[in-house]
Amino acid sequence: MLLTTEPLRLGGALLLAAGWLGMSMQAWRAHRAGVRRDRPAAPADGDWLVVYASQTGNAADLARRSAALLAAGGVAARALPIGLLDDALLHAATRILFVASTYGEGDAPDDAARFAARTLAAGADPARLRHLHYAVLALGDSRYAHYCGFGRLLDAWLAAQGATPLFERIDVDRADPAALEAWRRHVARLAGTADAPDWEGPAWGEWRIAGRTLLNPGSAGAPLYLVALAPAAGALPAWEAGDLVQVSAPGDPDHPREYSVASTPLDGRLELLVRLQGVASSWLCTGAQDGDTVRLRVRPHERFRLADNAHRPVILIGNGSGLAGLRGLVKARIAQGRHDNWLVFGERNAAHDFLLREELEGWRDGGWLTRLDVAFSRDGAGSDAAGKRYVQHLLREQAADVAAWVRHGAAIYVCGSLQGMAGGVHAALEAILGADVLDALAGEGRYRRDVY
Ligand SMILES: Cc1cc2nc3c(=O)[nH]c(=O)nc-3n(C[C@H](O)[C@H](O)[C@H](O)COP(=O)(O)OP(=O)(O)OC[C@H]3O[C@@H](n4cnc5c(N)ncnc54)[C@H](O)[C@@H]3O)c2cc1C
Ligand SMILES: Cc1cc2nc3c(=O)[nH]c(=O)nc-3n(C[C@H](O)[C@H](O)[C@H](O)COP(=O)(O)O)c2cc1C
Repeated sequence: MLLTTEPLRLGGALLLAAGWLGMSMQAWRAHRAGVRRDRPAAPADGDWLVVYASQTGNAADLARRSAALLAAGGVAARALPIGLLDDALLHAATRILFVASTYGEGDAPDDAARFAARTLAAGADPARLRHLHYAVLALGDSRYAHYCGFGRLLDAWLAAQGATPLFERIDVDRADPAALEAWRRHVARLAGTADAPDWEGPAWGEWRIAGRTLLNPGSAGAPLYLVALAPAAGALPAWEAGDLVQVSAPGDPDHPREYSVASTPLDGRLELLVRLQGVASSWLCTGAQDGDTVRLRVRPHERFRLADNAHRPVILIGNGSGLAGLRGLVKARIAQGRHDNWLVFGERNAAHDFLLREELEGWRDGGWLTRLDVAFSRDGAGSDAAGKRYVQHLLREQAADVAAWVRHGAAIYVCGSLQGMAGGVHAALEAILGADVLDALAGEGRYRRDVY
């Protein structure tokens, strides 16, 4: 008896100890990196939660509108990001509406990565959430192989935990107005307000091209332009560094394209860095003529703004047109008088692709970039098997400094290619800081990405 149970008990104790140690290590590393974890208050009886998983803000916006619609009908409701939905809250809440977008290749958006790893990993247990009524609005794009993948996963998981759907999941293909209207009607019915007004997105404005500059003449890659825009009439709208614009091009007006804003309102105009690729970008870069109007609207991108990080050092990492979002942030930092900015930028060849070189080196020489590091993948003497050196290699070389900046409270911003760059940078940061610290930084808004 003893012989058979003792190793089991020992194994169990070891597992428990390892688990505890793991948790303590995680707490300790997070503490060392200056990370705090806030917990939302549990809902009062009868309160509704509208939980969103959003990368660029569409799901967040719809969640807020849904919560406002419920509130208009007298139902206490609040919108919150899925990262704050822990087990305690899941068990305390009785009614949750989920608005979930999908990223990467059927993946959860960044703000849902922790939830997906921590909570959705639990196997089926039909008794677990029997107290919960829910609905899912899944945002996606049917051109991707895993259409609405994360919303569907979430829906299936909730059902497997015994939760009861208030109505069937609604999948939204590229912001399809009919699907959004179906959701709005359901929410209005739940709120008891049949006469709720329609939801309208931010208004489209008319803009004109105020200047276009080719930034990479002779490049081995596609041309990349700085496109400056000014309102055709009236004043500049308000925006913050990190925000996005949507452009509706004449060749494909029903499917607006997103661009990261590369300027601040202090510049007096909106600037974009646009890589010439297909319908919309070629129209912006070369097709649109001086007299043409550009239909455009600015979209708040809260997940990529400076927000609380305005008072922290920042490490800005990106490649190619991703310099756009980082440039907007650097300009905002300069306007705020902050010098503790470290820019890490990558492209192909220094001779052709060192975008805005004078400006960036001017910022470095003027003390506005404490550090400027560049990696040119095609300039030889590389770090990977194919002999290429990318921003992620640069970060690994500078691991001690990256860790020191984070220990001193730095926030990390990543902008540019999802394929290759964002994954490579994520892996490098995990190796340097530890997955738990990176995870906690993301939870605290100190690791933010605008990747596409
Ligand atoms: C959050 C976010 C931020 C973004 N920020 C930026 C930014 O700051 N700068 C930027 O440049 N882009 C940015 N993008 C990408 C941008 O929204 C568009 O996807 C991009 O400009 C391509 O749109 P398009 O209409 O030009 O190409 P589409 O016509 O939609 O074509 C899509 C793809 O098909 C390929 N393709 C199209 N036509 C052909 C053809 N005839 N032959 C071969 N291949 C073809 C193109 O290579 C292209 O990659 C961002 C995207 C997101 C989601
Ligand atoms: C880089 C990228 C990857 C995406 N991957 C998927 C996908 O795999 N499946 C899907 O249905 N939609 C995908 N989408 C579409 C988004 O889910 C959709 O645009 C959604 O409205 C974004 O909402 P958000 O602003 O709340 O993040 C992707 C969009 C981008 C820009």
